[in-house]
Amino acid sequence: MSVVILGIESSCDDTSAAIIRNRVELSNVIANQDVHRAYGGVVPELASRAHQQNIIPVVDYAIKKAGIKKHDIDAIAFTRGPGLLGSLLVGTSFAKGFAIMNQIPLIEVNHLHAHILSHFIIPKDTNPAEIHHPEFPFICLLVSGGHTQIIVIHDYFEMEVIGQTIDDAAGEAFDKCAKIMGLPYPGGPMIDKLAKQGDATKYEFTRPSIKDLDYSFSGLKTAFLYFIRDELKQNPDFIQQNTPDLCASIQHTIVDILLHKLVLAAQETGIREIALAGGVSANSALRKTFTETAKENNWNIYIPPLRYSTDNAAMIAITGYYKYQKQDFTDFNIVPKARM
Ligand code: KG4
Ligand code: ZN
Repeated sequence: MSVVILGIESSCDDTSAAIIRNRVELSNVIANQDVHRAYGGVVPELASRAHQQNIIPVVDYAIKKAGIKKHDIDAIAFTRGPGLLGSLLVGTSFAKGFAIMNQIPLIEVNHLHAHILSHFIIPKDTNPAEIHHPEFPFICLLVSGGHTQIIVIHDYFEMEVIGQTIDDAAGEAFDKCAKIMGLPYPGGPMIDKLAKQGDATKYEFTRPSIKDLDYSFSGLKTAFLYFIRDELKQNPDFIQQNTPDLCASIQHTIVDILLHKLVLAAQETGIREIALAGGVSANSALRKTFTETAKENNWNIYIPPLRYSTDNAAMIAITGYYKYQKQDFTDFNIVPKARM
């Protein structure tokens, strides 16, 4: 049976709509919001207004690009949370209206769950036989702007968090360190870009000592802040003269912290199927070091294509697809949730 799902993602500052047929991506349209750049971070009120402006053209384009008609859609899946409430509200309201108008089921999706299930999308124009998906149980290092978790994935719907950050997320560490250096928002991709010309061993930052499989990134951010403050006292041009090395060194430290606990998690569980997910999994140093670590440890690894790493609606649609299989539909009284 062919199942066509429209996915809607509006949890933060990207408005996205995607169509998948069974597990194949037919379209995945993302409208980025430039309005936040001038403020050095996402302004929630501006984000929800931009979602309101974007959502109808983005959905229209996703349907057109997929080469389908509205009446071909079997269900609409939307991000219920976690995220910015005003932004989530736009996607939720749109999805309800669309479901009523087209008399199709509504499916709520947890954004983090979707990042993980992005591994099961079959990208457009690929031969399904050449695609390798993680086998259950696998470990997923989920690293985004708001979350850093090591999760054992037993099944599409059964997941167990075995480690997580006790304060800032890895993405936040990237973004906050970028801000300290005066780099424009979003800081993570900027650090990644500038680090390519830098020396990752130039500056040493101490690693946190947190027990078990948990993480902490707030101490690193503070250490970076004090380090920069002290250097600026000696040389007011310190940042401008050393930006690539600073970016490479902080990036190296964050990646090192992430992978250290991931290695421990693999050892403790005995699981060798390991995946990355979330916006920070777009980081080139993380992707590279993860691949090297996998060779040393004999892991089978799974790294999402870049367009499925950062926020996108194809991951919402694939999660909707699996919920559709279970006929796990959502009541129209549903409200978005900032925290889940
Ligand atoms: O998953 P995501 O797109 O949104 C959330 O669910 O939070 O993740 C966004 C985070 C931001 O902190 C952003 O700076 C970070 O992912 N990020 C990166 C890169 N691309 C996105 N961090 C480091 N290097 C990148 N290339
Ligand atoms: Zn995300």
